[in-house]
Amino acid sequence: MEKVTTAKLKALKSKRQKICMLTAYDFPFARILDESSVDIILIGDSLGNVALGYRNTLPVSVEEMVIHTRPVAKAVERALIVADMPFGSFQKGTKDALSNAINLVKAGAEAVKIEGAGYLDAIKKIIRAGIPVMGHLGFTPQSVHQLGGYRIQGRGARDAARMVRDAKALEKAGCFAVVLEMVPDALAKRITKALKIPTIGIGAGSFCDGQVLVTNDLIGLSDWFPGFVRPRANLRRAVSRAVRAFTREVKRL
Ligand code: KIV
Repeated sequence: MEKVTTAKLKALKSKRQKICMLTAYDFPFARILDESSVDIILIGDSLGNVALGYRNTLPVSVEEMVIHTRPVAKAVERALIVADMPFGSFQKGTKDALSNAINLVKAGAEAVKIEGAGYLDAIKKIIRAGIPVMGHLGFTPQSVHQLGGYRIQGRGARDAARMVRDAKALEKAGCFAVVLEMVPDALAKRITKALKIPTIGIGAGSFCDGQVLVTNDLIGLSDWFPGFVRPRANLRRAVSRAVRAFTREVKRL
Protein backbone atom coordinates (compact mmCIF):
# COMPACT_ATOMS: atom_id res chain seq x y z
CA MET A 1 0.00 0.00 0.00
CA GLU A 2 1.64 3.21 -1.18
CA LYS A 3 0.62 6.35 0.74
CA VAL A 4 -0.81 9.10 -1.47
CA THR A 5 1.22 12.31 -1.26
CA THR A 6 1.01 15.65 -3.07
CA ALA A 7 4.04 14.56 -5.15
CA LYS A 8 2.23 11.37 -6.15
CA LEU A 9 -0.79 13.42 -7.29
CA LYS A 10 1.41 15.56 -9.54
CA ALA A 11 2.98 12.38 -10.94
CA LEU A 12 -0.50 10.99 -11.68
CA LYS A 13 -1.25 14.12 -13.73
CA SER A 14 1.96 13.82 -15.72
CA LYS A 15 1.19 10.12 -16.40
CA ARG A 16 -2.39 11.15 -17.39
CA GLN A 17 -3.83 8.91 -14.67
CA LYS A 18 -7.03 10.22 -13.10
CA ILE A 19 -7.37 11.18 -9.42
CA CYS A 20 -10.39 10.15 -7.34
CA MET A 21 -11.50 12.29 -4.38
CA LEU A 22 -14.53 11.88 -2.08
CA THR A 23 -15.72 13.43 1.17
CA ALA A 24 -15.89 11.74 4.59
CA TYR A 25 -16.91 13.12 7.96
CA ASP A 26 -16.57 10.08 10.25
CA PHE A 27 -14.55 6.91 10.94
CA PRO A 28 -16.67 4.20 9.20
CA PHE A 29 -17.08 6.03 5.89
CA ALA A 30 -13.44 7.14 5.85
CA ARG A 31 -12.42 3.48 6.33
CA ILE A 32 -14.63 2.30 3.46
CA LEU A 33 -13.35 5.05 1.15
CA ASP A 34 -9.72 4.34 2.03
CA GLU A 35 -10.15 0.60 1.51
CA SER A 36 -11.75 1.37 -1.88
CA SER A 37 -8.61 3.12 -3.19
CA VAL A 38 -9.90 6.70 -3.14
CA ASP A 39 -6.81 8.93 -3.60
CA ILE A 40 -7.92 11.98 -1.60
CA ILE A 41 -10.37 12.00 1.31
CA LEU A 42 -11.77 15.46 1.98
CA ILE A 43 -13.33 16.46 5.27
CA GLY A 44 -15.38 19.03 3.36
CA ASP A 45 -17.23 21.87 4.99
CA SER A 46 -20.17 20.29 3.13
CA LEU A 47 -20.23 18.68 6.60
CA GLY A 48 -22.55 21.61 7.41
CA ASN A 49 -25.36 20.70 5.00
CA VAL A 50 -24.65 16.97 4.77
CA ALA A 51 -24.25 16.00 8.43
CA LEU A 52 -24.97 18.94 10.74
CA GLY A 53 -28.32 20.08 9.31
CA TYR A 54 -27.23 23.62 8.34
CA ARG A 55 -28.75 25.31 5.26
CA ASN A 56 -25.27 25.86 3.75
CA THR A 57 -21.58 25.68 4.67
CA LEU A 58 -21.34 29.16 6.20
CA PRO A 59 -22.00 28.30 9.88
CA VAL A 60 -19.35 25.53 10.00
CA SER A 61 -16.62 26.33 12.55
CA VAL A 62 -12.98 25.30 12.82
CA GLU A 63 -13.89 23.38 16.00
CA GLU A 64 -16.51 21.34 14.08
CA MET A 65 -13.98 20.65 11.30
CA VAL A 66 -11.45 19.53 13.94
CA ILE A 67 -13.99 17.19 15.59
CA HIS A 68 -14.75 15.50 12.24
CA THR A 69 -11.15 15.46 11.00
CA ARG A 70 -9.97 13.38 14.00
CA PRO A 71 -11.98 10.18 13.29
CA VAL A 72 -11.31 10.42 9.53
CA ALA A 73 -7.57 10.68 10.19
CA LYS A 74 -7.72 7.66 12.53
CA ALA A 75 -9.40 5.56 9.81
CA VAL A 76 -7.26 6.48 6.81
CA GLU A 77 -3.98 4.75 5.93
CA ARG A 78 -3.53 5.31 2.18
CA ALA A 79 -5.41 8.38 0.94
CA LEU A 80 -4.24 11.97 1.31
CA ILE A 81 -6.36 13.61 4.04
CA VAL A 82 -7.48 17.15 3.18
CA ALA A 83 -9.60 19.31 5.51
CA ASP A 84 -11.57 22.36 4.41
CA MET A 85 -10.77 25.72 5.99
CA PRO A 86 -14.33 26.85 6.83
CA PHE A 87 -15.81 30.30 6.22
CA GLY A 88 -14.16 32.89 8.48
CA SER A 89 -11.09 30.78 9.22
CA PHE A 90 -8.69 32.39 6.71
CA GLN A 91 -10.14 35.88 6.05
CA LYS A 92 -9.20 37.57 9.36
CA GLY A 93 -5.46 37.79 8.75
CA THR A 94 -2.61 35.49 7.82
CA LYS A 95 -1.68 34.74 11.45
CA ASP A 96 -5.22 33.60 12.26
CA ALA A 97 -5.36 31.57 9.03
CA LEU A 98 -2.10 29.78 9.89
CA SER A 99 -3.25 29.07 13.43
CA ASN A 100 -6.53 27.53 12.12
CA ALA A 101 -4.65 25.46 9.53
CA ILE A 102 -2.31 24.20 12.27
CA ASN A 103 -5.32 23.13 14.38
CA LEU A 104 -6.63 21.07 11.44
CA VAL A 105 -3.21 19.46 10.95
CA LYS A 106 -3.02 18.66 14.66
CA ALA A 107 -6.39 16.90 14.23
CA GLY A 108 -4.86 14.73 11.49
CA ALA A 109 -5.26 16.64 8.22
CA GLU A 110 -2.30 16.36 5.85
CA ALA A 111 -3.40 19.36 3.76
CA VAL A 112 -6.07 22.06 3.83
CA LYS A 113 -8.39 23.44 1.15
CA ILE A 114 -9.16 27.14 0.78
CA GLU A 115 -11.93 28.58 -1.43
CA GLY A 116 -11.15 31.39 -3.90
CA ALA A 117 -7.99 33.23 -4.92
CA GLY A 118 -8.53 36.32 -2.76
CA TYR A 119 -6.30 35.26 0.13
CA LEU A 120 -2.99 34.42 -1.52
CA ASP A 121 -0.96 35.81 1.40
CA ALA A 122 -2.70 33.43 3.82
CA ILE A 123 -2.17 30.54 1.38
CA LYS A 124 1.55 31.35 1.05
CA LYS A 125 2.02 31.63 4.83
CA ILE A 126 0.33 28.26 5.41
CA ILE A 127 2.47 26.62 2.70
CA ARG A 128 5.64 28.22 4.14
CA ALA A 129 4.75 26.54 7.46
CA GLY A 130 4.88 23.17 5.68
CA ILE A 131 1.14 22.61 5.18
CA PRO A 132 0.08 21.78 1.61
CA VAL A 133 -2.86 23.84 0.31
CA MET A 134 -5.48 22.83 -2.26
CA GLY A 135 -7.27 25.67 -4.10
CA HIS A 136 -10.97 25.79 -5.03
CA LEU A 137 -12.37 27.92 -7.89
CA GLY A 138 -15.61 28.22 -9.85
CA PHE A 139 -18.68 27.90 -7.67
CA THR A 140 -17.30 28.37 -4.16
CA PRO A 141 -20.11 27.51 -1.71
CA GLN A 142 -18.81 29.89 0.99
CA SER A 143 -19.61 32.78 -1.42
CA VAL A 144 -23.11 31.50 -2.24
CA HIS A 145 -24.77 34.83 -1.35
CA GLN A 146 -22.35 36.89 -3.43
CA LEU A 147 -22.63 34.49 -6.38
CA GLY A 148 -26.43 34.70 -6.25
CA GLY A 149 -27.13 31.00 -5.71
CA TYR A 150 -25.90 27.64 -6.98
CA ARG A 151 -24.94 28.41 -10.58
CA ILE A 152 -22.26 27.65 -13.14
CA GLN A 153 -19.29 30.06 -13.00
CA GLY A 154 -16.96 31.35 -15.74
CA ARG A 155 -19.49 31.39 -18.57
CA GLY A 156 -18.54 34.70 -20.24
CA ALA A 157 -15.12 35.40 -21.82
CA ARG A 158 -14.11 37.87 -19.08
CA ASP A 159 -15.12 35.59 -16.20
CA ALA A 160 -13.37 32.67 -17.90
CA ALA A 161 -10.14 34.68 -18.37
CA ARG A 162 -10.31 35.73 -14.70
CA MET A 163 -10.65 32.13 -13.58
CA VAL A 164 -7.63 31.10 -15.68
CA ARG A 165 -5.64 33.95 -14.06
CA ASP A 166 -6.82 32.90 -10.58
CA ALA A 167 -5.86 29.27 -11.22
CA LYS A 168 -2.37 30.33 -12.34
CA ALA A 169 -2.05 32.57 -9.27
CA LEU A 170 -2.95 29.65 -6.98
CA GLU A 171 -0.36 27.47 -8.71
CA LYS A 172 2.26 30.23 -8.39
CA ALA A 173 1.41 30.65 -4.70
CA GLY A 174 2.30 26.97 -4.22
CA CYS A 175 -1.05 25.13 -4.18
CA PHE A 176 -0.65 21.41 -4.99
CA ALA A 177 -4.05 21.02 -6.73
CA VAL A 178 -7.18 23.03 -7.53
CA VAL A 179 -10.84 21.99 -7.30
CA LEU A 180 -12.97 23.36 -10.16
CA GLU A 181 -16.65 23.38 -9.16
CA MET A 182 -19.51 23.98 -11.63
CA VAL A 183 -17.31 25.28 -14.44
CA PRO A 184 -18.09 24.80 -18.18
CA ASP A 185 -16.27 21.76 -19.63
CA ALA A 186 -14.25 23.86 -22.12
CA LEU A 187 -13.00 26.23 -19.39
CA ALA A 188 -12.09 23.30 -17.10
CA LYS A 189 -10.12 21.84 -20.03
CA ARG A 190 -8.35 25.18 -20.62
CA ILE A 191 -7.37 25.50 -16.96
CA THR A 192 -6.28 21.85 -16.78
CA LYS A 193 -3.97 22.40 -19.77
CA ALA A 194 -2.61 25.67 -18.38
CA LEU A 195 -1.56 24.18 -15.00
CA LYS A 196 1.15 21.73 -14.01
CA ILE A 197 -0.73 20.91 -10.80
CA PRO A 198 -3.83 18.66 -11.01
CA THR A 199 -7.36 19.98 -11.36
CA ILE A 200 -10.13 18.06 -9.61
CA GLY A 201 -13.58 18.69 -11.10
CA ILE A 202 -17.07 18.62 -9.62
CA GLY A 203 -19.73 19.40 -12.19
CA ALA A 204 -16.89 20.53 -14.47
CA GLY A 205 -16.88 17.83 -17.16
CA SER A 206 -14.48 15.00 -17.85
CA PHE A 207 -11.32 16.91 -18.87
CA CYS A 208 -10.08 17.59 -15.32
CA ASP A 209 -7.23 15.51 -13.91
CA GLY A 210 -9.58 14.06 -11.31
CA GLN A 211 -13.14 14.06 -10.02
CA VAL A 212 -14.63 14.78 -6.60
CA LEU A 213 -18.13 14.26 -5.22
CA VAL A 214 -19.84 14.59 -1.88
CA THR A 215 -20.06 10.91 -0.82
CA ASN A 216 -23.63 11.24 0.47
CA ASP A 217 -24.72 12.38 -3.03
CA LEU A 218 -22.83 9.50 -4.69
CA ILE A 219 -24.45 6.83 -2.55
CA GLY A 220 -27.97 8.30 -2.54
CA LEU A 221 -28.03 9.35 1.09
CA SER A 222 -28.85 13.02 0.47
CA ASP A 223 -32.46 14.18 0.09
CA TRP A 224 -31.26 16.75 -2.50
CA PHE A 225 -28.23 16.59 -4.80
CA PRO A 226 -26.99 18.69 -7.73
CA GLY A 227 -28.09 17.78 -11.28
CA PHE A 228 -24.58 16.72 -12.37
CA VAL A 229 -24.47 13.89 -9.80
CA ARG A 230 -25.35 10.35 -10.90
CA PRO A 231 -25.90 8.42 -7.64
CA ARG A 232 -24.51 4.85 -7.83
CA ALA A 233 -26.68 3.55 -4.94
CA ASN A 234 -29.81 4.44 -2.98
CA LEU A 235 -28.77 4.17 0.64
CA ARG A 236 -31.62 6.36 1.81
CA ARG A 237 -34.08 3.74 0.54
CA ALA A 238 -31.99 0.82 1.85
CA VAL A 239 -31.69 2.33 5.36
CA SER A 240 -35.38 3.24 5.43
CA ARG A 241 -36.36 -0.35 4.44
CA ALA A 242 -34.13 -1.85 7.13
CA VAL A 243 -35.49 0.49 9.80
CA ARG A 244 -39.12 -0.16 8.80
CA ALA A 245 -38.51 -3.93 8.85
CA PHE A 246 -37.02 -3.68 12.33
CA THR A 247 -39.86 -1.45 13.55
CA ARG A 248 -42.46 -3.95 12.25
CA GLU A 249 -40.64 -6.87 13.94
CA VAL A 250 -40.37 -5.07 17.27
CA LYS A 251 -44.02 -4.00 17.28
CA ARG A 252 -45.09 -7.58 16.54
CA LEU A 253 -43.13 -9.00 19.52
O1 KIV B 1 -17.06 20.83 1.04
C1 KIV B 1 -16.96 20.00 0.13
O2 KIV B 1 -17.43 18.86 0.21
C2 KIV B 1 -16.25 20.42 -1.08
C3 KIV B 1 -16.28 19.49 -2.25
C4 KIV B 1 -17.62 19.42 -2.85
C5 KIV B 1 -15.24 19.84 -3.25
O3 KIV B 1 -15.67 21.45 -1.10
